[in-house]
Amino acid sequence: MFGKLFSRSSAHVTQPSDFSVLGMDMHSHLIPGIDDGAKTMEESLELIRGLIQLGYSGAITTPHVMGDYYPNTGAIIQTGREELRRAIRQAGLTFRLEASAEYNLDNYTAELFAQGDILPMPGKRLLVELSFFGAPPDLENRIFQLRLQGYSPILAHPERYSYYQGNLSALERIRDLGCALQVNILSLTGHYGSQIAKWAKTLLDKDMVSYLGTDMHHAGHLQELQAALQQKDILRILQRHTFKNQDLLNL
Ligand SMILES: [Fe+2]
Repeated sequence: MFGKLFSRSSAHVTQPSDFSVLGMDMHSHLIPGIDDGAKTMEESLELIRGLIQLGYSGAITTPHVMGDYYPNTGAIIQTGREELRRAIRQAGLTFRLEASAEYNLDNYTAELFAQGDILPMPGKRLLVELSFFGAPPDLENRIFQLRLQGYSPILAHPERYSYYQGNLSALERIRDLGCALQVNILSLTGHYGSQIAKWAKTLLDKDMVSYLGTDMHHAGHLQELQAALQQKDILRILQRHTFKNQDLLNL
């Protein structure tokens, strides 16, 4: 009987009080100075302390890789990861930090991919984002090519692209091509507006969402994530849905 009470499945029955049920965050901007996320090492550590308090045991941080603004490479990100890991150790924090990237599907990243300069998550997962103005016309082919190379793409915050608002079949098509969907927790809090919050919740209801991410850039986001834990509907989402973030813990 006790085995049943404390079994893995019963963890989902009890309403969570934090994000520990997710285990790993898989979308954030924690490495200082290489994108529009944390600016200094101190700020990075503040965000990581925050993630620990929110219940996360680790993060795969995902700096932007975007030709026009953030021409990061695998080497730049790995160097940043090592420096941040050292700072985490020196601060006496227990937190697993991995690094991958949030690849904007532009011509710069297409070139990087062609050169094999790719820094995937464990399991060859690859977080990709699209321009907020429109998807590349050859999006399906780009996803197909990544799949051919053995990658499992994950589309970052599909709920935030205005051109996909309310277009369930477009997102189903992307998912059916083998590209998983990741919703931002900050979308659920209403940070990007009530319409995006509603659409994000619809996608959850339709079982379209494989991952939840913080997409944390700065302390303002951290405060909102802390406030999210006071919102019953967000706790209910954590209780009702199973997310693949948990799979990353064991890789
Ligand atoms: Fe992001």
